[in-house]
Amino acid sequence: MMAESQFSSTHFPVLGEEVLEALNLSGSDCVVDATYGRGGHSRAILSQLSDQGRLIVIDRDATAVNAALGEWGGDDRVEVVHAPFSELTKILNAKGLIGKVDALLFDFGVSSPQLDNGARGFSFMHDGPLDMRMDQSRGISAAIWLEQVEEEELVRVLKKYGEERFAKRIARNIKTVLSEQDIETTAELTAIVSAAVPRKEPGKHPATRTFQAIRIAVNDELGEIKSVLPQALAAVSPGGRIVMISFHSLEDRLVKRFFNEQAKGDPFPPDMPVTSDMLRPKLRLIGKKIKAGDGELDRNRRSRSAVMRVAEKEA
Ligand SMILES: C[S@@+](CC[C@H](N)C(=O)[O-])C[C@H]1O[C@@H](n2cnc3c(N)ncnc32)[C@H](O)[C@@H]1O
Repeated sequence: MMAESQFSSTHFPVLGEEVLEALNLSGSDCVVDATYGRGGHSRAILSQLSDQGRLIVIDRDATAVNAALGEWGGDDRVEVVHAPFSELTKILNAKGLIGKVDALLFDFGVSSPQLDNGARGFSFMHDGPLDMRMDQSRGISAAIWLEQVEEEELVRVLKKYGEERFAKRIARNIKTVLSEQDIETTAELTAIVSAAVPRKEPGKHPATRTFQAIRIAVNDELGEIKSVLPQALAAVSPGGRIVMISFHSLEDRLVKRFFNEQAKGDPFPPDMPVTSDMLRPKLRLIGKKIKAGDGELDRNRRSRSAVMRVAEKEA
């Protein structure tokens, strides 16, 4: 078991010890943390890197990037990039690092600072402008997205990304309000959604599923993952590790499928006799999916839905 001193006493990154073990680092490795967030995993990674090590941190959120620059600006091992991780190939190409990364980490979804800051518009718990963009310099806010989206598409998003049973009623309520006035704040959206939900789930705020679904759509979170999967494979060196932590079953499904396909190797017609060397698998699965243990579950509610998968590039 890893010493807890590698993690800050106030911020334990999700599956912190398991991530370090999965990344399988040696001191001089070149590592990418593609979702810096509050830097919990990066801090632990850096504790394992020597002066010869290198860590590239990426985040699409300017606040996370500024925090990284503030913390690591004076550390020659660290390079900080403000970009969506779907630009991984472009980022690594500029540094001559395609195929040379020893370990690559993704911890998908939103960070606590994003959720806790009302001004970011992610949460029904804090009033603020209805924004929800991780990168406020690109794309459209949730308020504009809601205005532009067709009611039918809104129903689909609420059902698919939020697994919301009352998707139709919620979408109808939102569109009815929008036909008369703007929805500009998280508190307004929360009230509209709450009024549309006839039966509350015990222990769950009625707006939880709607906010999650709209956030996933506004940030094209699944599109980002689909796009980065083949880029991640190309980025790592033979024997290099890819570690991905998902919080939504749709995210995990994308990761699982990709890892399994690449571990199976090239597709051949089912009636064709093939030998294993003809299949040329690109990845080797490392263990099965990993979930948080009891200690972490007690400490961190968010870890309840975390699922980690690990793969290694074939030599
Ligand atoms: C769950 S947090 C990461 C927490 C981090 N591992 C830690 O220990 O503090 C997710 C972070 O990834 C960023 N993020 C999410 N999707 C992204 C994407 N497509 N490209 C770049 N950053 C992304 C978010 O802005 C957020 O800061």
